[in-house]
Amino acid sequence: MYVYVNGKIVPSKEAVVSVFDHGFLYGDGVYETLRVYDGVVFKIDEHLWRLFRSASLIGLSIPLDANHLKLALYDTLMANALRNAYLRLTVTRGKGPIGLDPDLCPQPTIVIIAQEFREYPRAYYEQGIHLIIAKTRRNDRRAINPQIKSLNFLNNILAKIEAKKNNAHEALLLNSRGNLTEGTISNIFFYSDGILCTPSVDCGILDGITRSLVLDLALREGIAVREAKYTKKDIYSAEEAFITNTTMEVMPVSRIDERVFPVGRISRLLRTAYRNEVRAYCAHVKAKGPSLWAEET
Ligand code: PDD
Repeated sequence: MYVYVNGKIVPSKEAVVSVFDHGFLYGDGVYETLRVYDGVVFKIDEHLWRLFRSASLIGLSIPLDANHLKLALYDTLMANALRNAYLRLTVTRGKGPIGLDPDLCPQPTIVIIAQEFREYPRAYYEQGIHLIIAKTRRNDRRAINPQIKSLNFLNNILAKIEAKKNNAHEALLLNSRGNLTEGTISNIFFYSDGILCTPSVDCGILDGITRSLVLDLALREGIAVREAKYTKKDIYSAEEAFITNTTMEVMPVSRIDERVFPVGRISRLLRTAYRNEVRAYCAHVKAKGPSLWAEET
């Protein structure tokens, strides 16, 4: 495996960063997870836009522009000869002396890892997955805004530990007011009384790229959607539920705590619509050719 580290693509054994990197010392950095379908990085512009937003929210200036980052992503894919892959793009504050001051780090660290994509078990999509509502609360927006996709993931990891203790696949987090927010690595949707519901961004969530696309697809399919504040009770009384993210796409939920859900019509319909959208996107990128990602460099 080959890894991109600060402008060089090197064998994974040589892909190292300093123990003085503030990403390692303090979780001071941002990242994106992207999915590659048949050689095409899905929604690359949206992911890079969000990476720059995360960086700007922590006052981190990324030394490469979006076009150079696109080239770096595709170069890393090509070095690994991957067509269906998982890409992880990380930008940290960089190496510097111990101390919180970001100005101690003159040069951000950029790392890109590309791995063969391993599909989730089919049973997850056919039968749905088990979630719990965690005791751990989601970070308050005024503490660490969940819209920053940062390396500081302990909040999510604590909830994931709870999920594992309960043999669940994913945990949902409430905010300090008791409103639903999101999963540890996913956004949550549920269908109730003819409306597709999902927590609004002001509840304190990462506005997932898959989430936005699913909201668009629902509208295109004539399904009413509502982004609002919801409680545990709202989701327990829903007819069906699913989670979304870049790697899982649309994943149906069969159980939340003790409440059992069927894999319903809306989850299936949106999963199919999502897969169709992926196919259309890839066909569009291929029709345009490499110019799409190499332009203006
Ligand atoms: N996670 N919420 C959180 C906290 C997330 O970490 C993610 C993504 C999402 C969904 O975002 P998107 O649809 O843009 O993937 C929501 C990725 C997959 C990760 O951490 O690897």
